[in-house]
Formats: sequence, C-alpha cells, structure tokens
Amino acid sequence: MSDLKASVVETQNGFHVEGYEKIEYDFTFLDGVFNPQNKQLADCYERWGRALAVMDLNIYNLYGEQMQKYFDHHKLELKIHKTMIGEKAKSMDTLLSIVDSMTDFGIIRKEPVLVVGGGLVTDVAGFACAAYRRNTNFIRIPTTVIGLIDASVSIKVAVNYGNYKNRLGAYHAPMHTFLDFTFLKTLPEGQVRNGFAELIKISTCGHLRTFDLLDQYCERLIATKFGRVDDESGEVRKAADEINRSGIYEMLKLETPNLHEIGLDRVIAYGHTWSPLHELTPDVPLRHGHAISIDMAYSATLANGRKLISDEEHHRLLNLFSRAGLSMDHVDFNEEVLAKATAAILKTRDGKLRAAVPNPIGSCVFLNDVTAEEMNAALRRHKEMMKEYPRNGEGLDAFVDSSDTGYTLNDVPVEALTKGQPSTNGTHTNGIAQKMANGLPNGLKEVLANGYENGYKN
Ligand SMILES: NC(=O)c1ccc[n+]([C@@H]2O[C@H](COP(=O)([O-])OP(=O)(O)OC[C@H]3O[C@@H](n4cnc5c(N)ncnc54)[C@H](O)[C@@H]3O)[C@@H](O)[C@H]2O)c1
Ligand SMILES: [Zn+2]
Repeated sequence: MSDLKASVVETQNGFHVEGYEKIEYDFTFLDGVFNPQNKQLADCYERWGRALAVMDLNIYNLYGEQMQKYFDHHKLELKIHKTMIGEKAKSMDTLLSIVDSMTDFGIIRKEPVLVVGGGLVTDVAGFACAAYRRNTNFIRIPTTVIGLIDASVSIKVAVNYGNYKNRLGAYHAPMHTFLDFTFLKTLPEGQVRNGFAELIKISTCGHLRTFDLLDQYCERLIATKFGRVDDESGEVRKAADEINRSGIYEMLKLETPNLHEIGLDRVIAYGHTWSPLHELTPDVPLRHGHAISIDMAYSATLANGRKLISDEEHHRLLNLFSRAGLSMDHVDFNEEVLAKATAAILKTRDGKLRAAVPNPIGSCVFLNDVTAEEMNAALRRHKEMMKEYPRNGEGLDAFVDSSDTGYTLNDVPVEALTKGQPSTNGTHTNGIAQKMANGLPNGLKEVLANGYENGYKN
C-alpha cells in the first residue's frame, strides 16, 4: 500500500511539486491459511463481508473447495475468478478479463482483491490491481517456491506484451502477503527445484548460515517439499522455515532500499548476468532456475580463478547445484553466447558488467573488469570440471514444459487432454527429446523472449 505526501511551491515561471511516497506492506508466515481455525485471512475481509479472489485454475482445482469452506465458515461471500495461466497467458487479455471480473464484482475503494497462485498469477493480477482505478489494493497468497521466496518478495507486477517479457508493468505493493508453505505439498518437484536455485543465489552471495542449511538438507528439502510431506520428525521443516525466513529477510533488506531498482549493483543479480540470454538459447528454453544455476556455477569458477573463493568453497558450491539436480552447464553455454550475453548485459547495466560473484561464500563482490580471454579461459576450465560431476553437470527437469507455458491442467498438458491422448501425469521426465517430440506451443520462444537482446531487463 502506498501513501503520497507532496508539497507545492510557486516558482518564478510556474510551480514546483515535491512528493514522497510512503510504502508499507506486511508478510505473515502462516501454514494453513485456509484452515478455518486461522482467522488471519478472514480478518482482512471482515469489514467487507466478501472477497473477490483471482486464482490459477490448477490451484482452484486443488484448493478451491477448501477455500470455499474457509470463507463459508467465516460467513464471507466468495467470488472466484479462475484463470488458466502460463507464460503465454501472462498477457493483457488475461489482465483485462480480471479487470472485467473486478467491475462485475463492483470492487469498491480500498477493498482488496485476493490473489492466489504462482508468480505468473500474482504478477498479472497484481498489475490489474495497479491499473484498476489507478490503484486497487490486493492481498497475495503465493503457492510456488518462486512465488513464496522471490516474486512475492518484490513489488514488481507485470504482463508480457508484443513478445516482450514483462514489458508492461508497475511497482505496486500489496497490503499483505500470506506465506503458506503447505501449498508446496502439491507442487511438482521440478518446480520446487526451480525455486531452490533462487535460494542458493541469495544465500551464496548474502547469507552464509542459510547456505550451510541448504547444503546440509539439500536433497531432503526438495524431496519433502520443504518439510511439508514425509518429514516425520519435523527436522527438515524446521530447517526449511529458518532458510525461508532468512532468505526472504535478506532479499527484503537488500532490495527494499532499492524498491524501484535504480541502483544497478545488485547482490540478487548473482546468476543473472549471462543467464538472461542463455535461458532462451536452447531450442526448448531452460527453466529460469536452471539457467541461473549455470550462470552461478560458471561465475563461481570465474571467482575461483581469481582466488575470490577457495577451491574447497568452489567444490562445495558446485556440489550443491549437482545434488539439487540443478544445471551447471549446457552445450549452448559457449564462447559465442558468453560474448553476446556480455554485450547485452552491459546495455542494461549502464555500461558495466556488475557481475556478482561470491567472495567468500555468504558475501559477494561485483566484477567489472573481466576480459573476454579471462571469461573464455574460465569457461574452458568450467567445462573440464563438469566431467567430474554426475550428468556432466546437466540438471534434472531442466527445460520448460507445458506446466510453465500455461498448457497444463493439474500436471496434464492440455494438448494431451484435447487430443484424448493418455495422461502424462507423473511423467515429468528429463528427456529433452521427448519434450521436443511432445512439441511446445508454437511461438513459445518468442513469447519468452524480450525486446532486450538478453531476453529480459535484468
Ligand atoms: N515480480 C517479480 O519480482 C518476479 C520474480 C520472480 C519471478 N516472477 C515471475 O513469476 C513467473 C513464474 O512464476 P512461478 O515459477 O511461480 O510459476 P507459475 O505461476 O507458472 O507456476 C508454475 C506451475 O505450477 C502450478 N502451481 C502453482 N502452485 C502450485 C501448487 N501449490 N501445487 C501444484 N501446482 C501449482 C501452476 O499452475 C503452474 O502450472 C514468471 O512469469 C516470472 O516472470 C516475478
Ligand atoms: Zn531470478
């Protein structure tokens, strides 16, 4: 929520206006946000007696009934706008359909829209709220790891437009964000891993204790969906809660002084230097988490070459990516891509590379003076090292599939449903060949691509 204070003074030829915007918003950790015993969400809607929710259809199918019961229990009317969402549907059309529902509902001043889903839904619906009557409140309930620890930590909201990713958007803070990690119970493992990469990012460059915990519990965090399934002793959940709390806190501390992203030396841009261009280079684009992991692993090799991290730290970090099933290399991550990605990022970072690298793990420095020779030598060494790792440093579930493009209904590609093919539920295989054979919706790469040469504004 924001509040603008401004003053006006007369000048010789006109007026001068000076204003300050106060922004405030809260986060609440709450497992079981739709558990009728937990009143926190209902309290937010008590004064309105009703709520309009915007949800990902998959989430509705999984949690709609529970949510309805929650609102019934608290005697609050609930109207739900369901949306099938994917990178292709992160569009103005989807935004406008949400706007229509807001009008039909007759949303009134200050009444918050409830937005439930992954980063895609919270981005699109958040932008609808930013634009609706210039400013409409909303409450966010993220349901993916990316949503919980990344997208919902920021106040950026957006849609893709004209083949440009996040081309239209705003900075619009929600009133409140409920962080309920029990939603992860139903999140496919590939999506959990994808979000895990962002936690490695923030901890490697910003918080050693969190890194130590990720290192200690890596496989168990992913397998138990952050301690929300099959964690009898509660040990993983305890570690997960500490990781998530410190990861989010770290991100907020780093980014809130820079809410409008004017500063360009950003710790959280670790792994986001060469990846924006590379993410979209393979025929089937890499998942964001895998693309940034390749960048982070390579950046670590570069840092190790400069003795900014020791050999031991370097191996520890690479080993963590490998254990998490995240990618550390890809055939298309080559000298040519590095050169193109460097040129592109220089444009968005005001002429400087500003590559965040760990120094040592838990903190970081920014490199601006890396020559092409040094980059290429580090790349050769990195690729050589990859031979020592399982899968030669390739990741699991590394490429986008229909669950990222909006063509999945509860894990079953819509194409399979419409063509009456057997369900592919549970067959989130790693085989790129199979994914290619399954076929991605036409133009996916264009939709994911961006006016920036490097894919998207970093
Ligand atoms: N605003 C920001 O600062 C910011 C930061 C990071 C990412 N993003 C944006 O977030 C988007 C990606 O979001 P995402 O990774 O959360 O993906 P997503 O919203 O597409 O969700 C991924 C898939 O998981 C399904 N799903 C969501 N929650 C589920 C659950 N609990 N159980 C089962 N299935 C579930 C969805 O239906 C979808 O198929 C991108 O568009 C990216 O640009 C924004
Ligand atoms: Zn990222």
